Amino acid sequence: MQTTELQTTGLRANRLTTDRLTTEQIDAEFPLRDGLIYLNHAAVGVWPLRTARAVRQFADENMYQGATAYPRWMQQERHLREQLARLLGASSVNSDDIALVKNTSEGLSLLAYGLDWRSGDNIVSTNQEFPSNRIVWESLQDQGVALYPADISGDDPEAALMALCNENTRLLTVSSVQFASGLRLNLERLGAFCRQRRIIFCVDAIQSLGAFCFDVETCCADVVTADGHKWMLGPEGLAVLYIRPQLRQRLKISQFGWHMVERAGDFDAIDWQPASSARRFEPGSPNMLGIHALSASLSLFEDIGMQTVESGLILRAEYLRDAVLAEQKLELLSAQDVARMSGIVSFRRRDLDAEGHAALYRYLMKHDVICALRGGGIRFSPHFYTSEQAMQAALAMAVQFNI
Ligand SMILES: Cc1ncc(COP(=O)(O)O)c(C=O)c1O
Repeated sequence: MQTTELQTTGLRANRLTTDRLTTEQIDAEFPLRDGLIYLNHAAVGVWPLRTARAVRQFADENMYQGATAYPRWMQQERHLREQLARLLGASSVNSDDIALVKNTSEGLSLLAYGLDWRSGDNIVSTNQEFPSNRIVWESLQDQGVALYPADISGDDPEAALMALCNENTRLLTVSSVQFASGLRLNLERLGAFCRQRRIIFCVDAIQSLGAFCFDVETCCADVVTADGHKWMLGPEGLAVLYIRPQLRQRLKISQFGWHMVERAGDFDAIDWQPASSARRFEPGSPNMLGIHALSASLSLFEDIGMQTVESGLILRAEYLRDAVLAEQKLELLSAQDVARMSGIVSFRRRDLDAEGHAALYRYLMKHDVICALRGGGIRFSPHFYTSEQAMQAALAMAVQFNI
């Protein structure tokens, strides 16, 4: 294969520096098979070695002794809540504020069907949301609740969102990072606005948790939800749901069972009340397999440090951005400004139409460049460990493709 020269940003100089792990140890966590270029963390991330090991160990344990060590599993569950609380902003969030739910969509649905809507209420969101953060709000239409999607394609997406809010706006709900373009919103600005207007602020953080530092307090988020299978490098089917304690007590509970009561495990008790903690949203047996896996994945982020992860990822996104901008055949679909950038870099080939892009996507996938076809172009989403060589080779293939 002939390679195309791409402008570099000096990424080679960026060795991830952490106190706890050497670069070699970080590399060893990602033994991707030879030739595979994985640029699809915005869809489903890869598991680090330690996660695969934790799952194997859990499988063996189940095979050899069933649930004999269940008390230790429960400790792991508590530990995961603490890890997630730290990821969301340790100074203000504690493990009691963390519910473990099935996915982001469930987290959003628990909020949507927990609020006491009044006919005439409205919800403001963007016009670029993933369906999970649109459909659930549209489903409230029969209760007289309207969804206003703001066009955020202009220079000031937050202003567009705020301009749509009025005295009947009960909720503003956005993805921290848009799934197709990768546009990163200024959550602090939106949160401050919502706090002042007493509008509930909900953040679908699946495209940024595990990629960027997050702090519930500085962005004044009332609700944050995210599945662990993308940037957090965990398995599918286990998500975090944070709801600010005052709001948590006001939400109607719609799923019931032994696990959501205050005295879970006291199976003889006749009387019950919902747990005061966020466990009130978890009706039954926890996803122990997922808990072991996600906890292992998050331990890697803790060893490396989120600041290092974030700067390593931004450097890679900048590398892709600059390489796309330097190549005549390509057009960048994502933002160029670092404050708006994320782990997602989307681009299109100027000479290809929609069908051509579908063919380009198939070509890349066939040649082991794992990526996505989104928003009218190709979406690359590396993570903090992705090598420059991998990104360079992937872009070269996108440039060389002939229909
Ligand atoms: C912004 C966003 N929200 C939600 C989802 C879906 O999440 P889940 O499957 O956890 O409901 C996705 C998946 O791509 C997404 O990109």
